[in-house]
Parts: sequence; C-alpha cells; structure tokens
Amino acid sequence: MFKELNRIVEVDEKRAKIARAPGRANIIGEHTDYNEGYVLPCTVDRDIVIVAQPCNYEVILHSINLNTTIKFPLRNIRFDPQDRWGTYPKGVAHYLLQAGYEIDGLIGVIHGTIPARAGLGSSAALEIATALIFQLLYDIEISPVEMALLCFKAENEFGGVSCGIMDQFASALGRRDSLLFLDCRTLSHEAVEIPSSKLRVVLLNTMVERSAEAVLNKRKLECQKAVQIIKKFRPETKSLRDLSTDDFEQLKNKLPATLGKRCQHVVYENERVIEMVKALKRDRFDTIGELMHTSHASCRDLYEVSCRELDTMVEIAETIDGVVGCRMTGAGLGGCAVCLVWDRAVEELAKRVSESYKEKTGINPEIYVSKIPPGAGEFVDWNENSGEIF
Ligand code: GLA
Repeated sequence: MFKELNRIVEVDEKRAKIARAPGRANIIGEHTDYNEGYVLPCTVDRDIVIVAQPCNYEVILHSINLNTTIKFPLRNIRFDPQDRWGTYPKGVAHYLLQAGYEIDGLIGVIHGTIPARAGLGSSAALEIATALIFQLLYDIEISPVEMALLCFKAENEFGGVSCGIMDQFASALGRRDSLLFLDCRTLSHEAVEIPSSKLRVVLLNTMVERSAEAVLNKRKLECQKAVQIIKKFRPETKSLRDLSTDDFEQLKNKLPATLGKRCQHVVYENERVIEMVKALKRDRFDTIGELMHTSHASCRDLYEVSCRELDTMVEIAETIDGVVGCRMTGAGLGGCAVCLVWDRAVEELAKRVSESYKEKTGINPEIYVSKIPPGAGEFVDWNENSGEIF
C-alpha cells in the first residue's frame, strides 16, 4: 500500500499512519438495532485499511480496489450522490468537524478485503477506518463508543441509510474470539467469549448482491408505524424494544397483519439474543443451533428479508454434521449466511455448500472461514504484512 501511496504523494514515513477496521457478521439479533433492541455480532478477518499522512485543508483518498479517488475540501462539506463510496469518509469528516475535533486534511490510499454488498458491514468499516486515521494523524481524543456513534451518524444522517448502530459498534469495539452483546438503547455492551476454541465462524456468500438501503428504509418505517399504533394503547411505548413477548401477544390483534409480523419478529428476536447469550455461556450448543434456526425462519417468514438463495444456503448448511447453527446475517435479501461450525466439519461444509448450492441455484458461492479479530486499531508495525494487503 505504501507503493500505491507513493504514486500520489511522496511518503513521509514519520508522519504516515495505518488504520485498520474489520467487517462484521451478526450471529443473532437481526433488524433489532434500529428498534433499540439487542444484537450479538462479531468482527470478521476481512477489513478496510487506510494508509495516509496529513495534508492541508483537503481530503484525498484513493481506493486501490476501485481505482477511483475522492477529493474534498474540509470547508463546507456537502452530500453529493455522485460521491458513492466517498460519501462515508466525507460524512465522517463532516461530523468530526461538527463535534469540534481539530482535524486537518489527509492524503491516503484505501484497500479493502470485505466483499461489498455482501452484508458484512463494509460501509461501517470504511467509516471507522476513516475516523481512526483522523484520530491517529491528529491525535484527537475520541473513545471507541463516540467514534461508533459519529460513524453511525455519517451513514444514517449524512448518507441517508436507515441503519442502526450495530455495524459501527462491532467494527470499533469488537474483541478477539468474542461476540459483542450490545444493548442498542443503553449502549451497554459485553464481550461474550465463543465457548470453544474449536468453533469457527464461516460465512457463506450467496453472491446475490443486495441494496441494504432499500430494505432498511422500508422496514424502519414499518416499525415506526407499528409503534404509533401501539402508543394508542400503551402511550409509554417508545420503540418496539419496549414490548415483551407477553405485551406483543396481548396487542397483536390491534395491528394490521404486515405490521404484526414485523413486530413479532423484533420482539421475539430480542428475546432470542438474550437466550443466545445464556446458551453461549453454558455451552448449550443445541440451543445455539435452535435459536439461529428460529431467527432465520423469523427473518424469512415474518420480517421477509431473506431470499431463495439465502434459504437454500441455510438449508444445505443445516444438514451437515458439525454445523452448530446457520442463519442469514445483515440486512438480508442476499449477501451472506453465517454459520457456527466445529473445526472438524469446516472442510465438509465448504465442499457440500460449493456443490449443492451451485446445483440448486446455478451460482458459485464464496466461502470465508473467519477468525474473530480485535476491533479497529492502528497497524503499528510497518512490516506487519498481511500479504494480501501490502
Ligand atoms: C444492516 C444495518 C445494521 C442492521 C442490519 C440488520 O447491516 O447497517 O444496522 O440494521 O442491517 O440487522
């Protein structure tokens, strides 16, 4: 990457920094974050890396993957749909300045290994990597929680995507070998260790690209409508998070059918996250599998964010001995399924998925066996090459 940076500017080794932010897979708690509920994601070992050095007044970032460059002055930052991926760094710079952080410009290159539009949080990773590179270059004091919230604003308010806070939190606060149990209302969070060193996270990419934006914006509106109706009967309700499963059962007849289904998913999914944390802590692998299975069915039938390819992927994976659980992950309608798999079954899973998925859908899937790395951080060792990136 330094070679690439050298092409656009003379590298100043003393002042250049490297920021790295990982993507994420959500193990359970889908579409609950923007309803102020619970989520349980983990980082994946695919990331966005930015190498940059300070410059005056403007931001110049070159994407090695896309071979395009964005350039904008720090004064008067405005949203422009033409910016595409550049919207995210722009939004981050905008909110850093708005929050009063003393930053100046930067010039750098970006490289990513997170497949785009695969539901693995690539936009959040880009935002976090951007915030982090500013932090490193200008020595600003910003906690990982503040950073995640600011990056969330960059995507939500600046970019106009009705996402929740999960992806940014996972990328910024993830811990090695742990899942991040996050309460999206109070922001309290806990690292829940993966119960066995022999359990792997495997991502099965359907290779069906999807626009998270459309799904999220539509579903968020539906959830808000449901809350408005529920408020008539329970004025204290602020979001779907406020409903227990008993509340839902009592109120469900008041809701139109579609909103009732959306609501049912969110209320029971929140409960499943809490059950999952207990099951992980007690090594209840059957329960872990059942919860992932039910969560997928709920995303498919009630929240209606799965698709034929995701369902096929999950069905294939679930027949394999050694797969603890499998479900769609992220916004849905394509992208990846996530599996928790015993080490010994990873090869068989990869083989069977490659064959059967191709046979059933005509599409060649991609399979990533992932470690759970730490959340975003600086690359301190300039020679810490990950081959693929440098
Ligand atoms: C996307 C959003 C997240 C979350 C998931 C669905 O990844 O960015 O905030 O809403 O969809 O769980």
